[in-house]
Amino acid sequence: MAVSSDNGSGSLAQIFDSLTPQQMRERGSLKWSQYPGDVIGAWVAEMDLGTAPAVEAAIRQATHDGLLGYMPPSVSQAAREEMAHYQREAFGWQVEAEQVSLLPDVLSSLSAVIASHTREDSAVIVPTPAYMPFLEIPGRNGRSCVEVPSVARGARDGSPHWVLDLDGIESAMAAGAGLLVLCNPWNPVGRVLSAAELDAVAALSSTYGVPVFADEIHAPLVLEDSLAHTPYASRPGADPDLTFTATAASKGWNIPGLKCAQLIASGQARTRWETDAGSAHLTAGASVVGALATIAALREGQDWLGEVRAYIRANRDMVSDALNGLEGVEPTLPEATYLAWLDCRDLGMERPARFFRKEAGVAMNEGVTFGRAWSGFCRLNLATGRGIEEETVRRIGDAVRRLSQAAS
Ligand SMILES: Cc1ncc(COP(=O)(O)O)c(C=O)c1O
Repeated sequence: MAVSSDNGSGSLAQIFDSLTPQQMRERGSLKWSQYPGDVIGAWVAEMDLGTAPAVEAAIRQATHDGLLGYMPPSVSQAAREEMAHYQREAFGWQVEAEQVSLLPDVLSSLSAVIASHTREDSAVIVPTPAYMPFLEIPGRNGRSCVEVPSVARGARDGSPHWVLDLDGIESAMAAGAGLLVLCNPWNPVGRVLSAAELDAVAALSSTYGVPVFADEIHAPLVLEDSLAHTPYASRPGADPDLTFTATAASKGWNIPGLKCAQLIASGQARTRWETDAGSAHLTAGASVVGALATIAALREGQDWLGEVRAYIRANRDMVSDALNGLEGVEPTLPEATYLAWLDCRDLGMERPARFFRKEAGVAMNEGVTFGRAWSGFCRLNLATGRGIEEETVRRIGDAVRRLSQAAS
């Protein structure tokens, strides 16, 4: 089933509105096939919304041309130029193509940075709640992981406002940590970090000489017109020698399976990246189809992305209304990303995602997988059709009400 706007069957929003769970199961994405039966897939960060027509066209063209082999230097160069251009145009960050390396995915770049560019006995600082693999990758590379739980300040616009625990980060740096993982926009709480917060991180990084791995994969997905993504590396205080930025078109345009991400670095960080065999060889793993899709997404996919952002924003607002007043569930609604973070601690269970999967038929991610401090939370994926989203929150609400009736 096509999910693009060029299939002649209505506007993008109308197409999304009409998506059904049955269609999603037939399509068989990971999100919808992991849990069998009548379960709504609302966990892994995939969108049910297809990709931009320009990206589809680029993939078709590559297939037609038989351009499915190893990466030609001209395609790699074009993708690097396009990403540099995108960073300049969209975010005002002066990036040159020479500072951009292609690689299969963001997580392999984090592995490489940890393995090759941190001291052997050093720890990796991960502010939590954090995208789950950030917590596992240090261990796989022989490093420990220091989880620094973040702080939810009082509700702002009806949603808790999450901030980094800068004192906790500083303590970990002072204790000899070798890297800070900074996720902005921030999965799972959907925050767009402010320039002041980035500057505070940059000051700590410089003071303690601790490199920063800035994961900005969700940058194209800022939902609020009043907010703008600020690349960490674009801040004057961010030391280029201590900064690695990883990004991709894969979240914004929904193509993580095409395996083409970008590592942006300059100064000594760039030199270290290029001269280290472990990180440099990753370039060979980026796929040619992914590079062509990335070029198409960044160059011609902005209108589609704008419509998708508006659609997710409306889903988010609908979810906010639907969960408003539901006792035991306090949602953090995203400023960016398509992920909502639900505080279900008042339901009195450590693993609410398991409860919702069994009792509501909604598969979300378990909070404790985002860091030790976050049992009682779960993450809800909002990137689906409106009808499916309405069914999702109806199921969540019904399950919570049944629980409280059983308790009373
Ligand atoms: C913050 C963040 N970083 C990285 C990834 C994974 O990216 P990749 O598939 O390029 O490794 C995700 C996927 O959801 C993510 O949310």
